[in-house]
Amino acid sequence: MYKLFFRLVFKRMDPERAHEAAFRWIRLAARVPVLRTYVAAALAPRHEELRTEALGLRMHGPFGLAAGFDKNAVAIDGMAMLGFDHIEIGTVTGEPQPGNPRKRLFRLVADRALINRMGFNNEGSAAVAARLAARNPVFRTTVGVNIGKTKVVPEAEAAADYVKSTERLAAHADYLVVNVSSPNTPGLRNLQATESLRPLLTAVREAADRTVTARRVPLLVKIAPDLADEDVDAVADLAVELGLDGIIATNTTIAREGLGLTSGPELVGETGGLSGAPLKARSLEVLSRLYARVGDRITLVGVGGVENAEDAWQRILAGATLVQGYSAFIYEGPFYARAIHKGLAARLAASPYATLAEAVGAETRKKAAQ
Ligand SMILES: Cc1cc2nc3c(=O)[nH]c(=O)nc-3n(C[C@H](O)[C@H](O)[C@H](O)COP(=O)(O)O)c2cc1C
Repeated sequence: MYKLFFRLVFKRMDPERAHEAAFRWIRLAARVPVLRTYVAAALAPRHEELRTEALGLRMHGPFGLAAGFDKNAVAIDGMAMLGFDHIEIGTVTGEPQPGNPRKRLFRLVADRALINRMGFNNEGSAAVAARLAARNPVFRTTVGVNIGKTKVVPEAEAAADYVKSTERLAAHADYLVVNVSSPNTPGLRNLQATESLRPLLTAVREAADRTVTARRVPLLVKIAPDLADEDVDAVADLAVELGLDGIIATNTTIAREGLGLTSGPELVGETGGLSGAPLKARSLEVLSRLYARVGDRITLVGVGGVENAEDAWQRILAGATLVQGYSAFIYEGPFYARAIHKGLAARLAASPYATLAEAVGAETRKKAAQ
């Protein structure tokens, strides 16, 4: 049904307009108590065996919504209603900003991919913090808050901008993510270099601890798939050294490998970050590399081209405790998260592992032992 609807309606609309329309419907549905209860009962993860403990948090299942879909924290209950068990809001920047001029989101349908150069369009950390503070949650869900640099802030002052967002948002975050990997803010990805990343993560950690004293807010960093392997290792080592809680691998790519010819050269040539199916192989590779380096010392979150339950299962076997998706949701529709949780439960039952936690990293450990 959704695929037919996508072909007849969404595919003919401008991608960002289609996103806004779908988003409005989700928010509306979540405001109608009977409807949201009915939809959530049908779509929420309810498999006992998928219960996940990660980052010191208890979750119903390992699969969640990646950052960028709900940038301003306006649809947390709506997305939870659709079966995403954790919702990562943002990227939120220190100051509000409009992002890049439209058109800035492109669908490569034949490649099951997207290219975006949104440029962190968001209402800024003060407005988003106020919204989170006023929120009256309907569903018990994990809320991650992903923060990034305001475009006009010079690279040298980046840490202060992240610290400002941290001070405003940490109290409302089940976990906090330092995003240094979007290709759409000039210079942002330079912050992944350890000499920049060390002081940045240290400052954000201190700001979170200063602001929230009743608990330790888990802190993660989100990295790009375009890092060289040695740089992936360097971030992994730094994360261990700084006592970081997790690494999210990966953001979108500036590479254009893996694209079929079907989407047309004019789309493939658009500037921005590529996500979806063509990102699958590299994201998985980065994740396995991270797990081989850090093992169980740090929680890994696998994202990038996760289209179905098999992809999610492969991420878990590679080392991910949590898995996220964005682009495939556009193509698969409202049953996307449910299909993944259901398929994961089936795969776990058919596997030699008694629990999901046992399966985490099993494939990478096996390869290392060979
Ligand atoms: C339109 C769009 C906007 C995004 N915005 C953000 C963002 O603001 N912050 C962020 O960390 N990642 C952002 N991402 C990246 C996703 O969170 C995810 O890492 C990436 O798309 C790979 O996952 P996927 O292949 O399942 O889409 C965005 C992705 C898309 C497609």
